[in-house]
Amino acid sequence: MDKIIVTGGAGYIGSHVVKMLGKMGYDVLTIDNLSKGHKEAVLYGKLAVVDLSNKMEVEKIIKFFKPDIVMHFAGFIEVAESVLNPAKYYENNVLNTFNLLDILVKNNVNKFIFSSSAAVYGNPQEVPIKETCPTNPINPYGYSKLFIEKMLQDFDYAYGLKYVSLRYFNAAGADPEGQIGESHNPETHLIPLVLKAAKGEIEKVKIFGTDYPTTDGTCIRDYIHVCDLTEVHILALKYLFDTNQSAIFNCGYGYGYSVKEVISKAKKVTGIDFPVEETHRREGDPPILVADSTKLKKEFNWAPKFDDLEYIIKTAWNWEMNRKF
Ligand SMILES: NC(=O)c1ccc[n+]([C@@H]2O[C@H](COP(=O)([O-])OP(=O)(O)OC[C@H]3O[C@@H](n4cnc5c(N)ncnc54)[C@H](O)[C@@H]3O)[C@@H](O)[C@H]2O)c1
Repeated sequence: MDKIIVTGGAGYIGSHVVKMLGKMGYDVLTIDNLSKGHKEAVLYGKLAVVDLSNKMEVEKIIKFFKPDIVMHFAGFIEVAESVLNPAKYYENNVLNTFNLLDILVKNNVNKFIFSSSAAVYGNPQEVPIKETCPTNPINPYGYSKLFIEKMLQDFDYAYGLKYVSLRYFNAAGADPEGQIGESHNPETHLIPLVLKAAKGEIEKVKIFGTDYPTTDGTCIRDYIHVCDLTEVHILALKYLFDTNQSAIFNCGYGYGYSVKEVISKAKKVTGIDFPVEETHRREGDPPILVADSTKLKKEFNWAPKFDDLEYIIKTAWNWEMNRKF
């Protein structure tokens, strides 16, 4: 049985992956400091409440558990905050990932799956975005992900660490069984915000910019259901063990929805006509971010199961109405 360490396994995406790994019979250990995650979200395996900056403790866990592979979700995720406080992002995302990688190679753990982001592309020159598109982040969050990818490339060359870097577009939706879902604080992602407006938890939803060069003037994003994204991690795991090769993949469906389309679908799903305010553009929002997922589909033989905005919103709404944390 493969032994897997999942950092950030108490967070949104990590907890869905832990659940699937646990159901499949893998021996899973989550490392999470619970700064943003929730212990109730870890449904399988053990949870070590440890900060990745604590090198001694992390190394103790690695020596004791002897993982075959590490999946690394832990990190800070708010783009706007990274602009105001880049040190926080370089410290937690880059430095703590370096600490982790350093421990792994010294302890002969040589397989790694990394949660990267479409933010590495910045304002892409073409959409849909291929993995070969130039990387040119426009904020410290995106740079933190790109620096880690560079570190991985160098660690592969020098120490033989084999990795898959998954560049997520917009993870969305929730566990169809309703046990876990998105629970960020503060919440900055569109779908949970829209649903909070429907619930009356926030007064209104703001649309930042209605004059973009898109069909309805609002930004377009590629929303991928968190369970499809979870399956990509399982395929990445198999890929690493089968091929022993490093690779980078975009994770999205290859098409997107505008902010207005998401809002109108959420009104349909919830049956609630919540208030919406149109306001000025935010700095650093590219008009369209859509993945070219040809490589993922071809190399992993991946076929999404939940690529339907209505279903994504239904699962997120079910979570939002019944959430326990
Ligand atoms: N949510 C998305 O749409 C999206 C898109 C692109 C990339 N990503 C990346 O995916 C990963 C997971 O995102 P998420 O939405 O699940 O975020 P999340 O905040 O829900 O989960 C991150 C988890 O990491 C933990 N953590 C953070 N710093 C830590 C540290 N120093 N030591 C131990 N644990 C620590 C947090 O407590 C949290 O449980 C992140 O790396 C993020 O950058 C997410």
